[in-house]
Amino acid sequence: MGFDFECVRVATATARTSMETRLRLVNEDELDEYARAVTRGFGHHFDANIFESYRAAISSGRALAAFDGSDIVGTVLSYSLELYVPGGMLPATLLDSVTVQPTHRRQGILTKMTAWSMKDFHERGEVLSCLGASESVIYGRFGYGPATLQVDFTLERPHTKFSHFPEVGGKLRFVEKPEASSLFPGITHRACSERPGYLKGSEKLWDLYFADPEPYRESASALFMVVYEEDGRPEGYVTYRVREGRVIVHELMPATREAHAALWRYCFGIDLMHTTHAPKRPLDDPLPWMLADPRRLRQSVRDDLWLRLVDVREALARRTYSSEGRLVLEISDAFCPWNEGRYVLEGGPDGADCRPTSSEPDLVLSAGDLAAGYLGAISFTNLCIAGRAEERRKGALEVADAMFRSSQAPWWPNDF
Ligand SMILES: CC(C)(COP(=O)(O)OP(=O)(O)OC[C@H]1O[C@@H](n2cnc3c(N)ncnc32)[C@H](O)[C@@H]1OP(=O)(O)O)[C@@H](O)C(=O)NCCC(=O)NCCS
Repeated sequence: MGFDFECVRVATATARTSMETRLRLVNEDELDEYARAVTRGFGHHFDANIFESYRAAISSGRALAAFDGSDIVGTVLSYSLELYVPGGMLPATLLDSVTVQPTHRRQGILTKMTAWSMKDFHERGEVLSCLGASESVIYGRFGYGPATLQVDFTLERPHTKFSHFPEVGGKLRFVEKPEASSLFPGITHRACSERPGYLKGSEKLWDLYFADPEPYRESASALFMVVYEEDGRPEGYVTYRVREGRVIVHELMPATREAHAALWRYCFGIDLMHTTHAPKRPLDDPLPWMLADPRRLRQSVRDDLWLRLVDVREALARRTYSSEGRLVLEISDAFCPWNEGRYVLEGGPDGADCRPTSSEPDLVLSAGDLAAGYLGAISFTNLCIAGRAEERRKGALEVADAMFRSSQAPWWPNDF
């Protein structure tokens, strides 16, 4: 790896400050202070009870910090994972714990840390980078685009009657952490292994999930965990919290149609609860079409996983496409200039080829907007109408939409 991790000195932007910020990866003995900075950055006080699981998670990633003198004033934690894109898994980094201390905001520190990270990812051959954004205004400037959408469901108990429901022969039972940690990753993998947007989480991230840190609970209960089995075979699970008569579904992960129905019916039938709230569902969850009165299901859609094509050419070449097509794309990318230029993409269900070209472009767009269409969540036609892409050859949008379309709605199932 040609990149010097030891120390990158940057004079933080501008006339706004004359402070000099040093960026580097932290050492083991700085993790305590790192965790303190992250929790403070999100507006909490550090909770020593969660430190052990958090420390393990941090040390399985790469913890970049910005220092003002000896103080940590910025954090970006990156995990090397794999993201499912049509055709297979691609190396990707998940960014997490992105903070700048309130004392140091709007001085360009996040911008510097992101530029450092992009160069690092590129050197490491990590083709994609992704994250869940706390606010949708932050990451577009760095070339991330909203690549998966989520729908949040809310349903009051009197309206939970089903009109369509499969034959369900399995059983539900509660599980505790040790058993859950042996069952859930495999169920998730079965359920999502061909779902664009699925990130294969590491063991340490699952450990952090099961540690269920108190600050993540938003005043609700600790997680309840229920598995659905058929003939002793685990086919799905749900994790949820309760708060003031509401069931708050954390994850509902069915690997079969029967598990899907059984788990929803379970959530709706928990005694003493009047409402089920299930954020972060995939857009193609068939629940509405099983309910007798689907209009009662309140639905709210928003962006979820933000994606960055760290290496545009590799990202386009190392996947398959829904239909055969050829496109010349002109990509602008001020933040990662190595991506700028024209590419000819020829791809289909069996694979693809992508190489630089000097031909006239069919579509002109930024790397961030390409990322928004990359998994198929947002069509190129829509991006064009929104003013985010330009069609230079008539018919190119139709070709692009047909190629990038996905049969399963792109979805980021876990929070990692
Ligand atoms: C989001 C956060 C990391 C930004 O750090 P920062 O160092 O202040 O960001 P920068 O100074 O590099 O900002 C670069 C640009 O983005 C804009 N920006 C950054 N965060 C923004 C926000 N939350 N809302 C609106 N604009 C924002 C800045 O105004 C600046 O724009 P400009 O170049 O036009 O002046 C910081 O505000 C933070 O820690 N927030 C709380 C924790 C959080 O939400 N983290 C993100 C988790 S996904």
